[in-house]
Amino acid sequence: MNAERVGVELGERSYSVLVGRGMLAGLGQEVRSVVDARSSRAFLVVDSGVPSSQIDALSGSLADAGFVVSSVSIEPTERVKSIATYERVLCAVASSGHGRVDPVIGVGGGIVCDIAGFVASSYRRGVPIVQCPTTLLAMVDASVGGKTGVNLAIEGGGLLKNLVGAFHQPRLVCADAAVLSSLEPRQMRAGLAECVKHAHICATVGHPDLGGWMKEHLDGIARFDGGPLDELIARNVALKASVVAGDEFEDPGAPAGGRMLLNFGHTFGHAIETIDGVVPVGRCYDGSVVGLLHGEAVGLGMLAACRCAENLGLCDPSIGERLKATLDTLGLPARAANLPGTGEIIARMGHDKKAMGSTLRVILPTGEGRCAIVEDAAPGAIAAGIDSIRG
Ligand code: GLY
Repeated sequence: MNAERVGVELGERSYSVLVGRGMLAGLGQEVRSVVDARSSRAFLVVDSGVPSSQIDALSGSLADAGFVVSSVSIEPTERVKSIATYERVLCAVASSGHGRVDPVIGVGGGIVCDIAGFVASSYRRGVPIVQCPTTLLAMVDASVGGKTGVNLAIEGGGLLKNLVGAFHQPRLVCADAAVLSSLEPRQMRAGLAECVKHAHICATVGHPDLGGWMKEHLDGIARFDGGPLDELIARNVALKASVVAGDEFEDPGAPAGGRMLLNFGHTFGHAIETIDGVVPVGRCYDGSVVGLLHGEAVGLGMLAACRCAENLGLCDPSIGERLKATLDTLGLPARAANLPGTGEIIARMGHDKKAMGSTLRVILPTGEGRCAIVEDAAPGAIAAGIDSIRG
């Protein structure tokens, strides 16, 4: 297969991320090569937004490689990413006669990859998972690294994101950039936010060139031009792969922060992502879009983290100013209207941490391409961060 192979080096759990174009139609043999020879079935967990031509190409290739293919479709929303959907998919997998050595294959964005992975982690105490991400965000982040899970709905209507799940590394990831041609521009932009996140931690995690490369190619990236886009995916997958290889299970004591650095923008972002009625504000938004995509919330969360860091004297205001300009060039929002009170957002930021018995931890920038973990940052600085993104 004509693809770049980025390795995720995890000893006996090592695997490849294939980065290329037009790979789905030939993926059957690749899947065959990473599962037990007795494997006879494959179960696809499919994002309802993926064009049927892509599913047909993949299914045909799996059939040619000797798999009997079954599938279930999921409408990918954060509310649907639930225990109820997890159970529905498990029941469908069981009904298909899926065996212990048979792969589950996630085909979709981050929500679908996370659900498919969680099902695979627990069905018959664990079966192989292969991820075929179909959004940019899932290619550069969600499909790589083995984090799987669903959200938990709590009293009062709130959602605790990814509170239930497991680490379950894929056997193979296929990041096929050709499938992105059918993705809505808003979804593409949301994926770019995770790449911007990587650029802000790149020096700390040993990929110091990523930030400069992205700056140099920013206009092409903003237009989703083929050449820069393919290289963007490969470079971001390589960064994610090495962070995961260094700290597979997000050890709180990992030197220099480890995998937790990938949460830059996420503590602020998660707190506003699932609030109903929030309106993103920016040059690509006319006020008619209500609600935030994960990547949009992460972009806003990174901006809030910059202001928080600035307030604590950890970084220069130029870091936040440049981030704002980058988000604007990429068409991502730099503010949000209809946010609830700052106290409520801080309470949301602390909620999942409290549930896990840990302190509020934020990832804050300390320089160009550098971030650090800060425990219990002063509430005034957190509040300043939140207020800086109000539209
Ligand atoms: N998305 C953050 C991580 O995989 O650790």
